[in-house]
Amino acid sequence: MENEAQPELKGVYISTYGCQMNVNDTERMYSLLEMDNYTPVTSADQARTIIINSCSVREKPVHKVRSEVGRYRKLKDQYPDLKIGVAGCVAQQEKAKLLKDIPMLDFVIGTDNIDELPKVLNEVKSENEKKVQAKFDHQSAYSVETLIRNPGIASFVNIAKGCDNFCTFCVVPFTRGRERSRTLQEVVADVQKLTERGVKEVTLLGQNVNSYLSSCEGNFAHLLKAVSEQTDIERIRYTTSHPKDFNEELVDVMNSHNAKVCEYIHLPVQSGNTEILARMNRGYSREDYLKKVDMIFKGLPNAVLSTDIIVGFPGETEAAFEDTLSLLDEVRYETIYAFKYSPRPFTKAARFTDQVPEQVKKDRLQRLFDKHNALAFDYAKDYENKVLEILVEEFNDGVCRGRSTQNKVVHFKSDLPHIGEKVMVKINTAFPQTLRGEKV
Ligand code: 5AD
Ligand code: SF4
Repeated sequence: MENEAQPELKGVYISTYGCQMNVNDTERMYSLLEMDNYTPVTSADQARTIIINSCSVREKPVHKVRSEVGRYRKLKDQYPDLKIGVAGCVAQQEKAKLLKDIPMLDFVIGTDNIDELPKVLNEVKSENEKKVQAKFDHQSAYSVETLIRNPGIASFVNIAKGCDNFCTFCVVPFTRGRERSRTLQEVVADVQKLTERGVKEVTLLGQNVNSYLSSCEGNFAHLLKAVSEQTDIERIRYTTSHPKDFNEELVDVMNSHNAKVCEYIHLPVQSGNTEILARMNRGYSREDYLKKVDMIFKGLPNAVLSTDIIVGFPGETEAAFEDTLSLLDEVRYETIYAFKYSPRPFTKAARFTDQVPEQVKKDRLQRLFDKHNALAFDYAKDYENKVLEILVEEFNDGVCRGRSTQNKVVHFKSDLPHIGEKVMVKINTAFPQTLRGEKV
């Protein structure tokens, strides 16, 4: 043991769960800690600080944190100065309770307190005391600079935080607080700075980008237009959209700026049944949703859609579930992300009395995937022999990997790495998740 390398005194390791917002927050935490002389490391055994950036959107979140912390028991015994903390949505949701439930933990840092992390961590270390910092900042405007250590070809930029929609199944309004948008100029400046560091593609991030509202400078369509016109970025994506706020103005901007704005839209439907949608507080009916889809394909005939679906929401009958199945015949979703409903703390739906049995949820999820898989194979076939513009992100063993404007992952053989370049590729074989082709 004696000869083994000691973990760096200021080594910090962050493990990340959940959505892109968390991935972005992890990057921010690493950047802030690096500025405070910490050293990001790539495995827990090299670290003297471990942070679990947690997610509580679905299933057993506290349990996941507890079992990860448990894996660090040996390290903690070996290095008593090792500090372990929790960030992200579980931290926000559980706050001090986490310290009680998981005695090995040293600190909890809320979703709105990331910028205070270096201070909190230094206090934890110097005072050797446990700390909880998990308060929402209800006062100040949302103004941050995107912090990314080594941006690659594609990067994320937060445009808004929080959510005011209170869908009855969703914990996000409780773990991320009220919705706030950054100013349009701040986002534009950020994107331009990233392009100067070699970034070619940005994904604008928000829980509900369509409700982006920058005091006096306009809505999401204006922001998209500004990022497209006022920066040198080559490709722009965004996520996530809310169908209720998705409007024609946005379709028009996507259309008129299609040299940069990618024709891929993630449009979570959640259910195909109007009654269930009402109980979910989604603010649209099946028919409203289908109208939005029509509007999108009218303005953007080449758009590719993906969606999120929840099966087994309280009160979902077999007939209601079949409405979700039949939606797949009506809307061409190239990808679906589907989940069994799981009750979340604080949410309204968790208190609904007509919960669906676990086995029924499981069966429905399987039926949904089976149906979509069959369709997705057919959709994929449509790509064969087509030529797509691929922005190359990786090169390994003579194979380039990149994505089309429609967010399809494409692999092709090449002598040159082409990283950061756009290459025209003819597709030879196509499967739902990946396409293979050759340079033309
Ligand atoms: N149960 C199951 N799925 C959920 N999602 C959000 N909350 C829940 C929940 N309580 C899904 C929704 C959302 C995606 C990010 O996660 O489909 O769009
Ligand atoms: Fe959750 Fe609904 Fe807000 Fe999305 S829009 S984050 S599902 S409350």
